[in-house]
Amino acid sequence: MTSKEIRQSFLEFFKERGHTIVPSAPVIPYDDQTLLFTNAGMNQFKDVFLGTGKRDYVRVADSQKCIRVSGKHNDLEEVGRDTYHHTFFEMLGNWSFGDYYKKEAIEWAWELLTKVWGLEKQRLYATVYESDDEAFEFWKKVTDIDSSHVLRFGKKDNFWEMGETGPCGPCSEIHIDMTPDYSGARLVNAGDPRVMEIWNLVFIQYDRDAQGNLTPLPAKHVDTGMGFERMVAILSGVDSNYKTDVFIPILDTIANITDQPYFDDSRGVPHRVVADHVRCLTFAIGDGAMPSNEGRGYVIRRILRRAVLYGKRLGMDSPFIYQLVDKVIEQLGAAFPDVAPRRDFIKRIIHGEEGRFHQTLDRGLDMLRSSLDALENQDTPVLSGQRAFELYDTFGFPLDLTQILARERGVT
Ligand code: SER
Repeated sequence: MTSKEIRQSFLEFFKERGHTIVPSAPVIPYDDQTLLFTNAGMNQFKDVFLGTGKRDYVRVADSQKCIRVSGKHNDLEEVGRDTYHHTFFEMLGNWSFGDYYKKEAIEWAWELLTKVWGLEKQRLYATVYESDDEAFEFWKKVTDIDSSHVLRFGKKDNFWEMGETGPCGPCSEIHIDMTPDYSGARLVNAGDPRVMEIWNLVFIQYDRDAQGNLTPLPAKHVDTGMGFERMVAILSGVDSNYKTDVFIPILDTIANITDQPYFDDSRGVPHRVVADHVRCLTFAIGDGAMPSNEGRGYVIRRILRRAVLYGKRLGMDSPFIYQLVDKVIEQLGAAFPDVAPRRDFIKRIIHGEEGRFHQTLDRGLDMLRSSLDALENQDTPVLSGQRAFELYDTFGFPLDLTQILARERGVT
């Protein structure tokens, strides 16, 4: 199955079970001051969970554009180095607003994974919150999962919260063991790419307030989220999201533009970072975020600058990331129709920001070089913290780059 078919088959499955299919919300949660970016599919339904809003349906499913680069859910440093974290990703989800609850959520998740998509049952593990006997029993009663594969974990792993405040509740996650010899039981929740979480079924029942208190909600709800790019990798039989049709066309385009071939190993980190980040930038800017010096805009600026720095490792000393926007839109424009009409605007913003950062880098490099030259004849040369700070604070030159370049010249 292609990634497009996988997205479609998820939505069809839940449509057949009475769910209304809705469009993704923007990646900017305009109505919610508690978040910088949409970090989960449930964000757009927060008011329904809290009992302050209503929809025309009680069962709903979608593919939500998500960004996890700030606050409670932040994957930025993992991106490009590992095979399955992204700044921008799609979350496939189904929801019940006070309608079905744990039994159906578990039963249908199992049915989709094992019957429709044919995942091997012996590879699947289910985790439940330590005191959630009900979910524990449903796994055994309504599915044919190996009962030794149902595990209990504490709050850190099995109690889901969207942010510091808001709707939350115990959750039951499904993990897949991709070890060749099915030995992954110990690796569930251990941060090992061979045993990944693929789907989170949250049983929303509380609201957490700013003082940290939990208040039971007027009704109980289901909120599920599946990492789309991970599922595409699994169903494509590959061990990395970057080896799927979600990323290959973007990686190929990067290799063409930069004239640097892509490799699956650590040599490919720069390509992977750029491929990940351009997806994020395209949708963030498309949905209304602008690079700036504070808040959301600063996060966008940092992501763009991170992409430029990795682009430099591919020999790119002038703007090129903006050219990749066309490829992102070619792939995702049909699933998220808001983005294509904003193509030119997105490209213009990225191009301008890339150009300015290259100028900043060039100027900073000149200044750093002359500081390092001045230390040339010292026995144990040290670049002062004050100078490194000034380069960063006044001239926007990244500290880690100062450190790397100083080290290359034998300077502490
Ligand atoms: N809100 C949960 C999550 O993001 C399930 O959708 O994991």
